[in-house]
Amino acid sequence: MLNAKVRTDRTSFFEEVAPNFGSARRTIQKTIMFDLTNKTALVSGAGSGIGAAIAETLARAGAFVYVADRDEDGGQNTVAAIRASGGEAEFMPLDVTREADCARAATAVCQRWERLDILVNNAGVGGVGNLPETSGEELDRMYAVNVRGVFNLSKAFIEGMIARKSGNIINIASVGGIVGIRDRVAYCATKFAVVGLTKSMALDHAPDGVRVNCICPARVETPFVQQRISEYADPAQARREMTATQPVGRMGTPAEIAAAALYLAADESAFVTGSAFVIDGAYSAG
Ligand SMILES: NC(=O)c1ccc[n+]([C@@H]2O[C@H](COP(=O)([O-])OP(=O)(O)OC[C@H]3O[C@@H](n4cnc5c(N)ncnc54)[C@H](O)[C@@H]3O)[C@@H](O)[C@H]2O)c1
Repeated sequence: MLNAKVRTDRTSFFEEVAPNFGSARRTIQKTIMFDLTNKTALVSGAGSGIGAAIAETLARAGAFVYVADRDEDGGQNTVAAIRASGGEAEFMPLDVTREADCARAATAVCQRWERLDILVNNAGVGGVGNLPETSGEELDRMYAVNVRGVFNLSKAFIEGMIARKSGNIINIASVGGIVGIRDRVAYCATKFAVVGLTKSMALDHAPDGVRVNCICPARVETPFVQQRISEYADPAQARREMTATQPVGRMGTPAEIAAAALYLAADESAFVTGSAFVIDGAYSAG
């Protein structure tokens, strides 16, 4: 879950992003950027980690957020955190691997709001292994969530977005969709596919007024990564090694990824589509 620093109001969020703006130019009235008032968003996998941070951040910017997850307890925790800080959210049970679930989600959202403004395809699963160590079943398991899930949920909402000539899809890929990573053969294959889906969808639907971008983080400390660390014989050593691969000497935080999602969700990024927004502390820079 998010720490207390992230659950601030919108004005202080802006001050965090541009801390010198107010003090350097005192006569200028403060502007609240990235205002999502009257927008409806759905975030898949919002019951944990990056998805929870994105849901909370979009809600703090004024959006009504559907917290969609196959894990009801996690999802309800995120909804409770959003409501506790004055935001609006509702849990939506959803398994993105099931087309019928995705279609049901689209019908429910559109019956209530007539439209979905922002779709964040965040739900994802990981796994470790090179080719000899990775079974076909393991590749299929990751593909079903990471690729087919993005495909299913986007497909459920795209026609409504095209009809209204307005929509915004943000996919959470990975830096493993930009460069290969050792011992992540199946995971990287799925995340390269997410970047490909993103770029193809962006080209197809730019004339329809639908934007499609993806975010490509390096390691971010979430339950997903904590689980991976706990699978090693020496978790403390594994943590040190994982941190050492990051040029900035630390993992990212869910809030740092959520800030990028907020930018992409807002009208300020209207010219941004087809982008793979790398947030990796220079992991892929060399
Ligand atoms: N944490 C990282 O280091 C990192 C780095 C790069 C990219 N990512 C990507 O970010 C996304 C979120 O990762 P995280 O670290 O927050 O993971 P997490 O495991 O903390 O949370 C993932 C959430 O997705 C949900 N989920 C899984 N399968 C689902 C399905 N079929 N339908 C609906 N919900 C499902 C889980 O219940 C969980 O709540 C993933 O796509 C992941 O690949 C994570």
